[in-house]
Amino acid sequence: TRPEQGPEQGPEQGPEQGPEQGPEEAHRHTGDTKKTGPKALHVLQAQRREEAERSVLISCLPRTHHNKFLKYLSRHGDVNKCFFYESFGTYAVVEFSDRDGVGSLLESAAVPSISHESVVPLRSRLLAVRNISTVDTQSAPQCQPQKALPINDLIQQLSSCTNLEQQIVSLTEAHSLTEENIRLRFLVCSLLNDVASAFFPDCSIRPFGSSVNGFGKLGCDLDMFLDLDAIGAGKSNVSRSTAPYVEYQMKRSSSERAVTQGVLSVIAESLEQLGPGCVGVQKILNARCPLVRFAHQPSGFQCDLTANNRVAMRSTEMLYVFGELDPRVRALVFTVRCWARAHGITSSIPGAWITNFSLTIMVVFFLQRRSPPILPTLDQLKELAGPSQKCIIDGNDCTFSSDFDKIQMKSNSESLDRLLSDFFEFYSTFLFNKMSINIRKGKEEHKPELGPLHIQNPFETSLNVSKNVNATQLERFVTLCQESAWSLQNGGTLTALLLPSHVAAIKSRKKRKREPASERIKGLLESLRTKNNGPKKCCLDA
Ligand code: GTP
Ligand code: MG
Repeated sequence: TRPEQGPEQGPEQGPEQGPEQGPEEAHRHTGDTKKTGPKALHVLQAQRREEAERSVLISCLPRTHHNKFLKYLSRHGDVNKCFFYESFGTYAVVEFSDRDGVGSLLESAAVPSISHESVVPLRSRLLAVRNISTVDTQSAPQCQPQKALPINDLIQQLSSCTNLEQQIVSLTEAHSLTEENIRLRFLVCSLLNDVASAFFPDCSIRPFGSSVNGFGKLGCDLDMFLDLDAIGAGKSNVSRSTAPYVEYQMKRSSSERAVTQGVLSVIAESLEQLGPGCVGVQKILNARCPLVRFAHQPSGFQCDLTANNRVAMRSTEMLYVFGELDPRVRALVFTVRCWARAHGITSSIPGAWITNFSLTIMVVFFLQRRSPPILPTLDQLKELAGPSQKCIIDGNDCTFSSDFDKIQMKSNSESLDRLLSDFFEFYSTFLFNKMSINIRKGKEEHKPELGPLHIQNPFETSLNVSKNVNATQLERFVTLCQESAWSLQNGGTLTALLLPSHVAAIKSRKKRKREPASERIKGLLESLRTKNNGPKKCCLDA
């Protein structure tokens, strides 16, 4: 089953197999928000978290008898939702209609008896079902895909689309996180929350980044934030009047960063030693944003856990708002990200490459520069914010409105074909050597510092989110934009843009050319203009 076939194809929809989709089924990241309007991110997150707390993750045999499995579970409570997937074995996500179902199931669960090994005495909602009968292969429960199609299969799928617009839509659907994958992400956060709660009973582990901002691709990492604010010092509701009161004696540390490092270090140790399914735990505590990285084997997610990272939560919400404002935003971001990955413009290895986050900001900026704009500027969103939405984090003003009813844009009916082609042309001609990309103001500004690519961090405005990018990588990006703009303007399709031979052609041509990059770019631009009969629109103010 491919993701675009939708969850209604899943085994849980069989007539006698029953559990219905949750009420949020209609609201995946489909852009289909006309009837009800998009929900605020915190509302969606709270619903997902609550669902996850009523859920368990169960390892089972690949050909588990679905009906018997459900029958067994329903002895403990009503099952709302159940789906299977594969990741180092077959697993089922089971959501009960209330927490009592989970409680009853856990109560009945046995501790494994292993003869040659010992078990770490920590029980969790990660379980394994034993002695349930199996069925033959044809009747086995269908597994929901948790990984995106390999690029070659995607290209093949796209080649059956009749036009570019259809290809863009098809790519977006194929890459988007599915309902099941989103549930699994929240469930993993919830399971890890149980481990962290052993130290910090009121903590909460929440997903951020592409798992929740609407731009997540199947298989993307799971970024998580350990929120300790409910426990933090200074949050006490005791009034420090002259009346007697007691206070906690708490260990002190030299800085907030040192506290974060200490807390993450303890969590890392506990995940390594006690966390069911957590493997390969690495402490990356000296990074600008300290984090713990590990693999969660039962889900197959690569996880990054941070703490005290509230600005990233705001940028997640900002991207979510942009993605929900117009369905073309997500479609363009998915297409550009896929194009960039296919050509090695982005990479899963950290280095001088452009990141997905930077690329997304570049798409947002491009859409703010359309006429009329497709997206508002961050400053415009800030002006729409009421006093209750004021948000200052570590001295940075992170205020903006995410009230969809207030955000009104003039109608812009440009097609996805046109936007994709113009995106490539926009960045083919962008004056990267002088100008900075600024989504707060929605227009380019003079670069405050040297460095090939400058994209202003929208909330920590003195920082450049693409500081890591070197001149070679930027040059590759620009060259590919030029080639791709040319290809689309000459009737090329998305499949052609994603093929690796495209890059090979550029590489061999680059070897032949010796003049400086700026000259090559000028020359190529001239040739593009001539080929297309006269000067093209220039999107730059300069
Ligand atoms: P993928 O994981 O590649 O799908 O995208 P992502 O958006 O999740 O990116 P990543 O995992 O690298 O980072 C997670 C989140 O951290 C992003 O969505 C941003 O909110 C934030 N982030 C990542 N990189 C930067 C950066 O360079 N500057 C700032 N300010 N925030 C960043
Ligand atoms: Mg991520």
